[in-house]
Amino acid sequence: MEIIILPTADDVARTAADAIEEQVRRGPSVLGLATGSTPLGTYQELIGRHRTGGLSFAQAQAFLLDEYVGLPAAYPQSYHSVIRDEFTISVDFAPDAVHGLDGMAEDPEAEAARYEGLIAAAGGVDIQILGIGTDGHVGFNEPMSSLGSRTRIKTLTRQTRQDNARFFDSADDVPDHVLTQGLGTIREARHLLLLAMGEAKAEAIAAAVEGPVAAICPASALQLHPHVSVLVDEAAASRLAHREYYTDTFGRKPAWQGL
Ligand code: PGA
Repeated sequence: MEIIILPTADDVARTAADAIEEQVRRGPSVLGLATGSTPLGTYQELIGRHRTGGLSFAQAQAFLLDEYVGLPAAYPQSYHSVIRDEFTISVDFAPDAVHGLDGMAEDPEAEAARYEGLIAAAGGVDIQILGIGTDGHVGFNEPMSSLGSRTRIKTLTRQTRQDNARFFDSADDVPDHVLTQGLGTIREARHLLLLAMGEAKAEAIAAAVEGPVAAICPASALQLHPHVSVLVDEAAASRLAHREYYTDTFGRKPAWQGL
């Protein structure tokens, strides 16, 4: 894992956008997109680069991490709608190049298998954006998720429903169930970008990065991945014991090496 501590949330967004831009400019790419508040600055940055810097997503495909069960795609809170409104409608993905899970599927297991097949058929994900929940989840893999899990249905913790209540009228309106890529699925993406900003994420980041690999903190599974960039602002880094080490090594990294 490479831990990169940046002064502000804007720096996190710019650095994540740099890595995604580099991937997209390399040729046809498969992007893993996340929803929630964390990646919004990155999406704004990419939209800006599309509008003024000629960055094109016409050759890219994208896969969403997760979706609420029981919300039709047309609902504004469905991740299908959120990713369209916050990002993909403002750039130039080809029609049908942005894939999500169907939260209304009658057979969630078949839907999960379909999605895994679609990712495999696309050649796997080149670069995956991830946020982290205050309970350490990535995607919607809540604590005790198998570190080898595949796409499946999960039940949200009370904490996550509370955390996500701001997108709904109340916590009671947050669906109980979700479909999410598993930790095993996520770990097959070739490069993972884990982003976190703000003090509320500091404890989860410390557990994920410096704690043991353990199902109680699902994001700790990323320690097993060969290429993870953890981009955090000062506040999200505040509980890390080895901040000086991370900052020192990042500062002395060869310029050609990239993320
Ligand atoms: P947030 O959520 O980006 O809205 O903080 C992150 C997550 O739950 O994975």
